[in-house]
Amino acid sequence: MANEDKQNKIIGMFDDIASTYDTANRVLSFGIDKQWRKKGCDKAYEMLGKSKISQIIDVACGTGDLLLYWKDRAAKKGIIVDKYIGIDPSVGMLDVAKHKVEFADFIEGQANDIPFGDESSDIVSISYGIRNVVDRRKGLSEFYRVLKPGGIIVILEFTKQEKSGIVSKIVDIYMKNILPAIGGLVSKNYAAYKYLPDSIEEFLTTKMLEDELMDTGFKVKYTKSFSLGISTLIVAQKPLA
Ligand SMILES: C[S@@+](CC[C@H](N)C(=O)[O-])C[C@H]1O[C@@H](n2cnc3c(N)ncnc32)[C@H](O)[C@@H]1O
Repeated sequence: MANEDKQNKIIGMFDDIASTYDTANRVLSFGIDKQWRKKGCDKAYEMLGKSKISQIIDVACGTGDLLLYWKDRAAKKGIIVDKYIGIDPSVGMLDVAKHKVEFADFIEGQANDIPFGDESSDIVSISYGIRNVVDRRKGLSEFYRVLKPGGIIVILEFTKQEKSGIVSKIVDIYMKNILPAIGGLVSKNYAAYKYLPDSIEEFLTTKMLEDELMDTGFKVKYTKSFSLGISTLIVAQKPLA
């Protein structure tokens, strides 16, 4: 399948599951994703070390969950953020986000063509989205371009498992069998939740993703895997000029 067709198919799939996405997410992650998201935001704010931030862009924002954490964690730390932006190509996901996250501006768009100028943002984030960006290299270079020197990129993602053994067997059974069954039930779209483990299998390991970030010019500052290695957080920085 041509890259453009592949990308459009992925976006269409998110349009189809948009209305049930949040419910399925909470059920499938047992609510633990809240901790993963908080940690990503806290680490970024800590590394940036600013009390006033002009712009945070959340790419592949989906229904806007991560933006809620960006705001909440900023408030807890007394950080002022002028602008929160959410970008996503799925109109269905954006519709949900617009109702849920009133403080942010939302733009229909893709990671590989971010409609902001060079060095316009302090933080760029992408949670469980980079796996869906077919032209990932272009996406990463766009993140680099729009960040100010010293700016931070936060990636949360399900990376491909490197380990074998009993733990990864359990994770495998959950991801390949239980998750598509429950996700399919909640969303009435089994294919979309079968896509999740398949796309993880086709995706990069954490080490490979770190290497791609470094090839793009980022300095990888912090990597942590959560919950038996299911989810990974990578925080990287665009070097100061
Ligand atoms: C699994 S959802 C994650 C949503 C949200 N970030 C979260 O943490 O819940 C993946 C999102 O990636 C978006 N997406 C797919 N292809 C994309 C692309 N090329 N650029 C940006 N976002 C994309 C989808 O529309 C979808 O909303």
